[in-house]
Amino acid sequence: MNAYPIIDHDRCTLCGRCVDICPKKVIAVRDGSIVLTEEECMLCSHCYAVCPVEAIRFDPTALINPAFTTFPCDEKAVPPGDVSPADLVNLARSRRSVRRFTPDNLDDRVIADLVAFAVTAPSGSNCQEWEFLAVNGRDRVWDLAMEIKKFFIALNRLARNLLIRYLSVPVAGTALLRYYRDHLDSVEMALRESEAGKDLLFHSAPALIIVHGGMEGSTPVEDAQYASYNITLLAHALGLGTCYIGYAVESINRSAAIRRYLGIPRGNRIHAVLALGHPDAGFERHALRKPYTLRFV
Ligand SMILES: Cc1cc2nc3c(=O)[nH]c(=O)nc-3n(C[C@H](O)[C@H](O)[C@H](O)COP(=O)(O)O)c2cc1C
Repeated sequence: MNAYPIIDHDRCTLCGRCVDICPKKVIAVRDGSIVLTEEECMLCSHCYAVCPVEAIRFDPTALINPAFTTFPCDEKAVPPGDVSPADLVNLARSRRSVRRFTPDNLDDRVIADLVAFAVTAPSGSNCQEWEFLAVNGRDRVWDLAMEIKKFFIALNRLARNLLIRYLSVPVAGTALLRYYRDHLDSVEMALRESEAGKDLLFHSAPALIIVHGGMEGSTPVEDAQYASYNITLLAHALGLGTCYIGYAVESINRSAAIRRYLGIPRGNRIHAVLALGHPDAGFERHALRKPYTLRFV
């Protein structure tokens, strides 16, 4: 794998834009020619993106141009200020957590497109250390819910025991105490409802996208959240609904059995689980938000 820009010297006009834009000083002009320096390339591909004569490319085993198959999308670099701010605000504000889905299945290709858009998110040092696991099909989602149910039955047994709650503090901090106070009752209710076939965990979604990854990168947790948020926005644009499922994130991270069931590599953390499907309810207006603080210094 060539993890450096490949320069076509016949095309290069020595305009120097690639040199100016490179954050790592990987490219320089020396003796009337563009050369690679000794610096390590982080594969941000800014050099490729600014070149007016397409004189820079990358080995496709190092970098790809994510493509979409379920909707037309001609590549267009939108200059700052050249997009309707109102459209963007309305899109972001119209994305809501969807907790009612129709039973319609999703084409794998739609999920592939959502993931292709996910990976266009920014990442610390351009690490992109995210991986995606799709659970596509209502039966599969339900089977995972049943695996997670076993985890919560065991957790609730522990949390209901006063002695264990307090003995857990030196090892796990106040996590079990807080779980008992904030979540035990609603989880009990969800467990009871599941006996009647109700899926309060995944809201009967026909599909899930699980975002996970190794923890070696600069900011793997944040990177995965940005990627996940991209999925929620494109899903909305495609007429789909999403909902982050934090309960699933916690349980999968804490249960070796569920991780094995899903084939999550050792060392990877689950960062987001998104329920996904066709919404069975619409919203008439944007959600309100709590008052917030903004200070200027
Ligand atoms: C990290 C995270 C975890 C969440 N976990 C759940 C969950 O387990 N179940 C659920 O129904 N909603 C979950 N949500 C959705 C939030 O409740 C929702 O985002 C919030 O109420 C704001 O509503 P909105 O997304 O419609 O704007 C989660 C959201 C985030 C960001």
